[in-house]
Amino acid sequence: MSSNPFLEASRRRRSQYSLGRTLPMSQQATTELIQEAVRLSPSSFNSQSSRAVILFGDQSQTFWDIVKDALRAIVPADGFAATEAKIDSFAAGAGTVLFYEDQDVVRGLQQQFPLYADNFPVWSEHASAMAQFSVWTALANAGIGASLQHYNPLPDAAAAAQWSLPASWTLRAQMPFGSNEAPFGDKAFIDDAVRFRVHG
Ligand SMILES: Cc1cc2nc3c(=O)[nH]c(=O)nc-3n(C[C@H](O)[C@H](O)[C@H](O)COP(=O)(O)O)c2cc1C
Repeated sequence: MSSNPFLEASRRRRSQYSLGRTLPMSQQATTELIQEAVRLSPSSFNSQSSRAVILFGDQSQTFWDIVKDALRAIVPADGFAATEAKIDSFAAGAGTVLFYEDQDVVRGLQQQFPLYADNFPVWSEHASAMAQFSVWTALANAGIGASLQHYNPLPDAAAAAQWSLPASWTLRAQMPFGSNEAPFGDKAFIDDAVRFRVHG
């Protein structure tokens, strides 16, 4: 196993579902870490289509309340307790990063480079994923646990209204984060022979 610092950080990145409110660093430092991770992420044509809404404390709780209300409307009442417990586990963290992609940027690229028009929405998704991985890994490297959730589009309209977000921003993922309150389980890896082909 390599001792490359980036791979060390990547090894530390795991899905943490048992979150607490204590962070090993200040809210300001956590914000700067998240912002720098998004800033440094690549994007097609350096279009920088990714947007992030960083919510701490009560604001994060408000987001998960929005999700819960939306789920209550569609989950059968007798199964809602389990759903509620799951949402509460995300809200138990210190905060949540909402990852958006600005469709105005995507549309602008499509007009500017018609040859690649079909690709820009796909590359926007790639850019978002890279930003998500970068933030997740940076948080993990700072000793902060997180997981990746996809309740969009259920909370989109209420979240846009709550935080006055531009209509062109589409929610792609939600990352609740906080203190690691449980150890990580083992993780299985498929055989390298299935995954890799190396020539030369
Ligand atoms: C594109 C993508 C979508 C995912 N969606 C979810 C999700 O909606 N909810 C969730 O709990 N985990 C989600 N995950 C986390 C994976 O389940 C998790 O990364 C995987 O099982 C490996 O575990 P690890 O994160 O601990 O390495 C997602 C991961 C990726 C890359």
